[in-house]
Amino acid sequence: MKPSTPVPAHQPLQHLEEWEDFLKERYPAPAAAATPFEAVDPEKKKEQFRNYEADARPSVREFYRLNHRHQTYDFVQTKKQEFLARSRRAMGIWEAMEYLNTLVDDSDPDTDLSQLEHLLQTAEQIRNDGHPRWFILTGLIHDLGKILCLYGEPQWAVVGDTFPVGCAFSETIVFHPYFADNPDSQNPRYQSRLGIYEEGCGLDKVHLSWGHDEYLYHVVKDCLPDEALYMIRYHSFYPAHREGAYAYLMNEKDRKMFDWVRAFNPYDLYTKSHDRPDVKKIRPFYEELIAEFFPAKLKW
Ligand SMILES: [Fe+2]
Repeated sequence: MKPSTPVPAHQPLQHLEEWEDFLKERYPAPAAAATPFEAVDPEKKKEQFRNYEADARPSVREFYRLNHRHQTYDFVQTKKQEFLARSRRAMGIWEAMEYLNTLVDDSDPDTDLSQLEHLLQTAEQIRNDGHPRWFILTGLIHDLGKILCLYGEPQWAVVGDTFPVGCAFSETIVFHPYFADNPDSQNPRYQSRLGIYEEGCGLDKVHLSWGHDEYLYHVVKDCLPDEALYMIRYHSFYPAHREGAYAYLMNEKDRKMFDWVRAFNPYDLYTKSHDRPDVKKIRPFYEELIAEFFPAKLKW
């Protein structure tokens, strides 16, 4: 591991995986528990979550504090305007993987794998389990939106469990008390159950907190089947896919597609290991897979 560089106040995590490590502690059981919100004793569950929060590293707590303080409805609109024109770069998928690989934070001490190796590891696990080609490809690319970090975006605007803005913050969102400092908490229009939305309006009409999921969704949305797009767009939407919150904003299609989001979650959370993928050996398979779905260049 490299010697630690001083951590800027607005970038509390030493590396992005610190957030994912926290998620693994909070959601230890494999997502085979497809209905985790049917807890036997909701009070006990709440208690457990408070413990995860109390035991979290100071860097992780600070990360969530900043995320919950700054992810407002207006912030999300500003970021969508800034990034969804996708006028920054033209890159193919493998090129984007190599670009993400230039993200040098202090490497993850648990695995010490590069970002590119992480992506390949996730994809290889999905491939080993015999899933369809689009599913493997989704595993490969699902975190490419993290290149937002390379544009100079703060960690709290790239990663973190996502949640709707413009309506009440669900109690199931981790570190919920930090929302007290979010200006939207003072806006009654945004604090009713439905807020600015309509019952069952569908998640496509709902603005989630801004981050790598939404950004990548817009980059690839014309190239992949709906199931893959749901996995990409909602893989960090833990309040919905692990807690069952915000069901009242979903429509029929969302409910069906969330089975796929839940099927993807174990590969996102639990595939990291020390096994270094043999990049040179497997690259031809992935180049062919990428070419099957994507043009040579995409707008980023
Ligand atoms: Fe992710």
